[in-house]
Amino acid sequence: MKVIHKVAELRAWRRSAGTKRVVLVPTMGALHEGHVHLVRMARELAGGEGLVGVSIFVNPLQFGPKEDFARYPRELQADAAKCEAAGADLIFAPEAAEVYAPDRSIIILEKSLSQVLCGASRPGHFDGVCTVVAKLFNLFQPDDAVFGKKDFQQLAIIRRMVRDLDFPLTLHGIATVREPDGLAMSSRNRYLAPEERAQAPALQQALQAARATWEGGVTGSKQLLEVARQHLALHAPLGKIDYLSLVHPETLQPVNVVACSGLMALAVFFGKTRLIDNIELRRSEDSPVAQTQPR
Ligand code: PAF
Repeated sequence: MKVIHKVAELRAWRRSAGTKRVVLVPTMGALHEGHVHLVRMARELAGGEGLVGVSIFVNPLQFGPKEDFARYPRELQADAAKCEAAGADLIFAPEAAEVYAPDRSIIILEKSLSQVLCGASRPGHFDGVCTVVAKLFNLFQPDDAVFGKKDFQQLAIIRRMVRDLDFPLTLHGIATVREPDGLAMSSRNRYLAPEERAQAPALQQALQAARATWEGGVTGSKQLLEVARQHLALHAPLGKIDYLSLVHPETLQPVNVVACSGLMALAVFFGKTRLIDNIELRRSEDSPVAQTQPR
């Protein structure tokens, strides 16, 4: 496996890949088992002949002025070992100056899906994500790209970007990898104090309680959200809810009733650490929106 830092090296690698299938896993590093799972899935997609590229870049454009850009963990050596073990062929780990020209003046703006959920309290975040992901798609020219479903809103927005800007690739949404107690894996879990960590599994449990209520026949959003809210109040008293919403899984707009499919998503602060999670509500005959093919 190669580790490269320069755009020119990446372009040369892509040229030499020729017609081989290239699968991209975009990350910001500090890789945990969830990322490793993405790399393994990418390896499976690429098969024996194809190539798996992982980008490791803490993208300054997607952090707000009060967010944790400076303290975001950077651990390239450990990340490289994990990627290699999971079957990656290449890591692209550029410096910010390699990615963004000092006088850059063009970004990608998403004007609908990014206004809700995480986007409501993180203005500009998804524009930063779209901009860097578009650049990575242009540089890697992948046939496929894999993203985790924990960041469901990110996946929905990138899916929209791929459709609206005609990127010729297939997107794959991969199920969230969890700790044994149900907490979604995240690079931010390490910031939790022990008593916060003990309460954090309540996020997924609250979502599951709401889904069980839905499966039991209750379809009104108000009642379903109340089930989750009460669970959090009881089992995660240290958590402060940033949002708890029930939305359409593609448009991400709030829904009043969930007939066939919906997405319940939440963000909860434990101190300064903000955790997110979600759950899909889907009747079994309704197909998952996990894969998006190019037009
Ligand atoms: O999900 C992430 O780690 C980032 O948002 C991404 C997609 C790598 C873009 O910086």
